[in-house]
Amino acid sequence: MNDKFYITTPIYYVNGAPHLGHAYTSTAADVLARFKRLDGAEVFFLTGTDEHGQKVESAARAAGVDPQAFTDSVAADFLDMARRMNISNDDFIRTTEPRHKRACQAFWEKLVDAGQIYLGEYKGFYAVRDEAFYDESELVRRADSVLVAAASGAPVEEVSEPSYFFKLSAFQEKLLAHYEANPDFIAPPAKRNEILSFVRGGLNDLSVSRTKFSWGIPVPGDAAHVMYVWLDALANYLTAVGYPDEGAERFGYWPANVHLVGKEIIRFHAVYWPAFLMAAGLPLPGKIFSHGWWTVEGEKMSKSLGNFIDVRPLIDEFGLDPVRFFLLREVPFGGDGDFSRGALISRLNTELANDLGNLAQRTLSFIAKNAGGVVPAQGELSEADRALMDMAAGLPARVREAVERLGFHEALEEIWKLIRASNAYIDHQAPWALRKTDLGRMNTVLRVLVEALRVTAILLQAFMPDTMGRLLDQLGVAPDGRQIAALEAAMVAGAALPGPSGIFPRYVETGA
Ligand code: MSP
Repeated sequence: MNDKFYITTPIYYVNGAPHLGHAYTSTAADVLARFKRLDGAEVFFLTGTDEHGQKVESAARAAGVDPQAFTDSVAADFLDMARRMNISNDDFIRTTEPRHKRACQAFWEKLVDAGQIYLGEYKGFYAVRDEAFYDESELVRRADSVLVAAASGAPVEEVSEPSYFFKLSAFQEKLLAHYEANPDFIAPPAKRNEILSFVRGGLNDLSVSRTKFSWGIPVPGDAAHVMYVWLDALANYLTAVGYPDEGAERFGYWPANVHLVGKEIIRFHAVYWPAFLMAAGLPLPGKIFSHGWWTVEGEKMSKSLGNFIDVRPLIDEFGLDPVRFFLLREVPFGGDGDFSRGALISRLNTELANDLGNLAQRTLSFIAKNAGGVVPAQGELSEADRALMDMAAGLPARVREAVERLGFHEALEEIWKLIRASNAYIDHQAPWALRKTDLGRMNTVLRVLVEALRVTAILLQAFMPDTMGRLLDQLGVAPDGRQIAALEAAMVAGAALPGPSGIFPRYVETGA
């Protein structure tokens, strides 16, 4: 069985500082990567920065800094955000690295050798903000008479320049056949339909080089051109696994299993990228998954509103894992959502502090005080015990099924069903009453609870690695017992537990 698993985030433009939207994609990809590792897969998880193109060049100019120095500093900030969010990426690629220039030029030459690139003249429109070419039919005129792309609202400029073209038009049928044969290639289904109708509408050849600026990878053999930033950027997924050295051990991860992207860049990943790969004779990724966008307190994040949210101050205020949890819990993955402090505080106080934090605290402090501070021994099981144990035993499969189709909110809901059932169980079984009447029964109830907590904590490690690590410490689960497969081994009765300490304090607004 091939248990290699390759997952990517988009590489982020370094024209501005990292914000909530970037943190979101990276966190979702991180949860999938961590879950696959917990489940025994050999994972390669890639993220990084997209550093070429007109947008980045003009941001550097506006900052009065040379583009390389500019990208060095913004890329360092993206890396810092990834570390602060506890993103477990195995590599961080920057498109200004020599390994990428080499891979990208080799990829270009492969497309040339395959007869898929020709020199022509591009006449049309370009939106620097989207780094995208537009036809006149895709534009609208704003009230202030500025011409913008209808889909994104980005202002366009008219351009006319010599350009190399990729024969995208030749791939319409092949792409449609691939979508047909692989119904899960593009997800969620609404996005698949959008791409299907776009491709059915016919494809024009794609301009893949620019001559109006120089901040990019030179086209091999024609120094007047730099590669179109999207061709450069998409190739990062190959660079990181060692391309063009297809014999490299890392290249065994290709093709990627999942490219996770935001909804605005699905076309580049689900149309252009597979066409480039087909043209180069390389296998296609397994899935392109598009997630939705966050607004902030009901508003779109934008430069003009100046409401970009940096997640780092939120981590300082609320703790890292509550922020990670909120991002994946609040919104069905694939849909849009709204970020607000109120919603974050409410999730933290109800689901983390009340439901999970309390369950762990009540169980573990009761054991510390009344059951000798050890893993309790299990006696005969009642029907209620069995019901909870069965629910816990079936949970890994249900969570796996949800996570594998990127239904993160459903995975969490499944886990919360067990947490809520455990809270109801402790209330009904009332170990505090059994303490006076039946110690054997009391121990069995506590044992069922710690087993349910162990399953909960092991599965939640993918979402909240730090706090669940602390909970597993308190449950006496050794580091080598924290994989999903290790759930089969029972806990050892009588083993000493280190003593409880709260994992999710309630957030109390201190008032202004
Ligand atoms: N550089 C390209 C991607 C190249 S991949 C080969 C790019 N970069 S970006 O900096 O604009 O980041 C885009 C990603 O950030 C989106 O795909 C999305 O994942 C995320 N988001 C940016 N703003 C967002 C929100 N407001 N909400 C959610 N995610 C958003 O596009």
